[in-house]
Parts: sequence; structure tokens; C-alpha cells
Amino acid sequence: MKKRVAVLISGRGSNLSALIGAAAAPDYPAQIVLVISNIAGAAGLARAAEAGIPTATIAHKGETREAVDAEVDAALRAANAQIVCLAGFMRILSDGFVRGWEGKLINIHPSLLPAYRGTRVHERVIEAGEALSGASVHFVVPELDAGPVIAQEKVPVHPSDTPEILAARVLTIEHKLYPAGLRMVAAGEVRLEKGLAVFG
Ligand code: GAR
Repeated sequence: MKKRVAVLISGRGSNLSALIGAAAAPDYPAQIVLVISNIAGAAGLARAAEAGIPTATIAHKGETREAVDAEVDAALRAANAQIVCLAGFMRILSDGFVRGWEGKLINIHPSLLPAYRGTRVHERVIEAGEALSGASVHFVVPELDAGPVIAQEKVPVHPSDTPEILAARVLTIEHKLYPAGLRMVAAGEVRLEKGLAVFG
């Protein structure tokens, strides 16, 4: 049985697109059953709709973080989601939400975690003169971008790189890495145990 996956987005949705593409293969162990955006009109919503996937927008309208997350949680439970993928979802989730989905909530981040958590990743990588960057798929824990890594891939950083050029190079590998990481989680090849990623 394919695992039922929901994807949370905030924008363009190119990683969502990569997941939709991968999930179209008959032997892929996951199917995307719901896409939720916290931003109305996010481009990724149109991509999901094109693929016939139900979508929802749950935007912050002045309620507490916990109240918004409870709405997201209810939508995920109503769709019988078993795994939740954050794909360019740029809102911090409450500790209660994260704990409720522990081991089932994964994210892609455009750095070689644990290096360069947070925002402005590519600017900071270039400023620091790094020779390598990359992307990481990881389990989400309450501390931002601190969860154990499921899969990681490196790219070179060139002296002439701008943040935009580096972001595009990293994004290319994200589109392979996220489907590969989700496949591992959905197939039960990796799980979160006592705060660690356990393989096999
Ligand atoms: C991706 O590069 C993703 O790694 C990053 O946002 C971009 C979303 O692009 N996520 C984060 O920085 C999370 N902290 P997309 O909407 O085209 O998938």
C-alpha cells in the first residue's frame, strides 16, 4: 500500500513538482493526497491542482501559531495523511504540531545540515568562502533545521557564484534528493528513534 503523503508549501513549489513527478511511477511507495499552502495563490497550488491533487490554503489571520497549526493538523488527519513533507514551507511550526507528527514529518533544506540552518543560506555560504554546499532531507524536530539527516548531497561552490546561481545549482539536486528521501521514509528504510535517524 502506498503511503499517503501531504505536502506543505509557501511558494513556487518546484520540490512539490519533483515529488508529484516521482509519485507518478507505479513502484513509488508514496502518493500525494493533499497540498496545503500558508500563502493564498502560491504557484505550487496550481501545479497540484493540474495533477488532480486536492489543495487547501490555511493562512495566518491573526490567530495564535497553535490555532493555525491545529487547523493544518485537522486537514491532514481528515485526508488520512501518514507522512507530511515540508517543501519550501516558510513558517515555523509549533512544538505541539511537530511532536504530533514526530517521525512522519520531513523537510528539505538547501544546505549541508547541520551547517547553515535558517534563512539566507546561499548568501551566508558564499560570504564564508565555502567550497562546498548542498541540500539535506531531514526529520523535523522542534528546534529549527536541527533534525537528523535522512539524505544529503553536495554541490561545489564556485568563486564567481552569486546567491541566485548557487541556489539554482542546489535546487537541481534538491529535485532528486527529496523524492529519494521520501522514498526511504515511505518504504520504512529509515525511521526516527530517540532523536536519531535509524537506517535499515
Ligand atoms: C527550496 O530551495 C527549499 O530547499 C527551500 O526553499 C526552496 C523552495 O523552493 N527551503 C527552505 O529554505 C526551508 N528552510 P520550491 O518552492 O521551488 O520547492
